[in-house]
Amino acid sequence: MTTAPASLDLSFREFSADAGFAAHLDSIDPLARFRDRFELPSDAAGTTITYLVGNSLGPMPRATRDLVMQELDAWGTHASQARFKGAHPWVHYHEMFREPLGKLVGGAPEEIVAMNGLSVNLHLLLASFWRPEGKRTRILMEAGAFPSDTYAIESHMRVRGFDPAQHVVKVAPRNGESCFTTQDFVQAIEREGDALALVLVGGLNYFTAQVLDMQSITAAAHKTGAFCGFDLAHAIGNVPMHLHDWNCDFAAWCSYKYLNAGPGSLAGCFVHARHAHDLQRPRFAGWWGNDISERMRMLDTFVPAVGADGWQLTNPPILSSAPLKASLDLFDEAGLPALRQKSKALTGYMEFMLRTLAQDRCSVITPADAGSRGCQLSIRIPGDARGVAAKLHERGFWCDFREPDVVRASPAPFFNTFAEVHAFAQALAGILHA
Ligand SMILES: Cc1ncc(COP(=O)(O)O)c(C=O)c1O
Repeated sequence: MTTAPASLDLSFREFSADAGFAAHLDSIDPLARFRDRFELPSDAAGTTITYLVGNSLGPMPRATRDLVMQELDAWGTHASQARFKGAHPWVHYHEMFREPLGKLVGGAPEEIVAMNGLSVNLHLLLASFWRPEGKRTRILMEAGAFPSDTYAIESHMRVRGFDPAQHVVKVAPRNGESCFTTQDFVQAIEREGDALALVLVGGLNYFTAQVLDMQSITAAAHKTGAFCGFDLAHAIGNVPMHLHDWNCDFAAWCSYKYLNAGPGSLAGCFVHARHAHDLQRPRFAGWWGNDISERMRMLDTFVPAVGADGWQLTNPPILSSAPLKASLDLFDEAGLPALRQKSKALTGYMEFMLRTLAQDRCSVITPADAGSRGCQLSIRIPGDARGVAAKLHERGFWCDFREPDVVRASPAPFFNTFAEVHAFAQALAGILHA
């Protein structure tokens, strides 16, 4: 082994392919204790799976069962009164999430609301922030966005009487490239000028794991007079963000990936304070978005709550909200800066191991700069990438395949270890060289 490092703040050339090196990193990992706070799947022989698909569905925090049971008990014991009684009265349940989610995305509590599912929230935000008028009608998005984003934007346009073929503009990576450049986004935005109404892109690309420069894209959109919002499905709980300071108009995310809040759990939104306080901003309304003092007056007039809360329609599903509490309690305990530091080291180590053992058979299309990517590495495998992912799965390494030739592997700092990354790279190299 090369000199044993004293912390996880490591540069690429400090890594070693020695198994003892990976074990050493695990021994100095300040977050190692969190692995036991999750239930991880195991194979028929009881061996724990190396779970590299937290970018798809995070595993279950152990605290989740108790928190869900607590709400089932509250329902059983207090029935309708559980809205006001018990450890976490339901009327205020969603309010617990404002502050911890705000810390993850860089928003003030009143700019945050946990509600609905991600695609639903995209429609609600499109209703408020896509306000086509005169020549200014277009929405700019990225080519190859997650399909639900494309469907949401295009169907939303059709419902409002616009033809997406005329009013959606897509920015693509340059020829032969997998990742975008900020320059290309800025130039495309400038080119659209006063025809542009909205920029809506994935803050962290689901296919390549590239983090976009959200601040520069927002600034360019604002310069032309357009709004700018982000889909943060793959960014939240993965990379630090400063949405308020970056001046982003809005954002939406789901909570079942890096937030580990369970299948279909409560999603969330950020609405910048300048809009969150604008009670005149057009929006869809439902009684739960009413100002709380007005809600039970049963009036016909809708008075939106101040803040992102004013975008709520419906009373939240408490049984899907309890897992979000389990998740956010863990984030508060570990802290995003420590998670990010370990994440950079884990992903950097995976890249180092792949370059050392399998460079001749695969290539990483995720940006090499640690600041421009999240946990995930997207590994391009010529030939049968789907078959390679299936073989890895058989050997206890769960990652996923994305058409046409990419295996995505996402080591997550809450529960993955350096030894797992080491073993994964060896297994992949073994399969590729067989
Ligand atoms: C980037 C992105 N956007 C949107 C979605 C759709 O999410 P939902 O089913 O929660 O609406 C996903 C789901 O994985 C996603 O990865």
